[in-house]
Amino acid sequence: MKTEDISNKLIINANDESSAIKPNEALFIHDFIKGHNIKKTLEIGFAYARSASHIIQATQSKHIAIDPFQSNYDNLGLKNIENLGFSEFLDFRNDFSHNVLPKLAAENHKFEFVFIDGDHKFDGIFIDFYYSDLLINKNGFLMFHDTWMRSTRLVTSYIKKNRLDYKEIKVPLRNLQLFQKVGDDTRNGMFFKEFYTLRSILSHNLIIWMTTGKSNIFKKTLFKLKELVK
Ligand SMILES: C[S@@+](CC[C@H](N)C(=O)[O-])C[C@H]1O[C@@H](n2cnc3c(N)ncnc32)[C@H](O)[C@@H]1O
Repeated sequence: MKTEDISNKLIINANDESSAIKPNEALFIHDFIKGHNIKKTLEIGFAYARSASHIIQATQSKHIAIDPFQSNYDNLGLKNIENLGFSEFLDFRNDFSHNVLPKLAAENHKFEFVFIDGDHKFDGIFIDFYYSDLLINKNGFLMFHDTWMRSTRLVTSYIKKNRLDYKEIKVPLRNLQLFQKVGDDTRNGMFFKEFYTLRSILSHNLIIWMTTGKSNIFKKTLFKLKELVK
């Protein structure tokens, strides 16, 4: 099956398209993973399996996906994986990441690529980063989705300022942020750098305003502009 056709084959509930990553983001992830010959992958936040299906297409290997709320999506993520013939590659964990990730770490699992797209609150993303760091191989990659969100930006700003064992790799898509673990964490207990950032303060509040409450012509125009800027 052609990778470009996967998104069209996915069943996604009407009006819930925004729960999945965008088709161009999924293609980017696919090409990145394939280009780096990555095989060991993990993701937090499965939903409709758009990211999972493209990761599996790229690796044709076992992929661990964590999500406690698959039933909220009518189990469509699992059905999509089955329809694509990818079930043998999916190791789905129907649980919260804060339960699964420590177990994976205790079992000494290691991954070359981790995709964080689960709980989007600051503390949830930070916990996912904390454990993903324990799970990632040296030279492995860590990718965040929804970097328009203030919560995500603060976590990635923390990494940039405090985690010198990570290097940011610029990607051409605005809503993804990618890091590579390039060294060891040699901080002593006193090490701390401020990581407050102004980035995304505006975009976060603007998008929240645009997507909640009554729609109006101004909101609709801004949405059109946002799509055009992509
Ligand atoms: C934006 S969606 C993920 C979209 C998915 N990557 C895709 O491309 O279809 C976020 C997902 O994270 C899940 N989630 C929320 N809190 C979580 C947690 N604590 N642990 C794991 N997954 C969580 C939600 O159930 C939801 O399915």
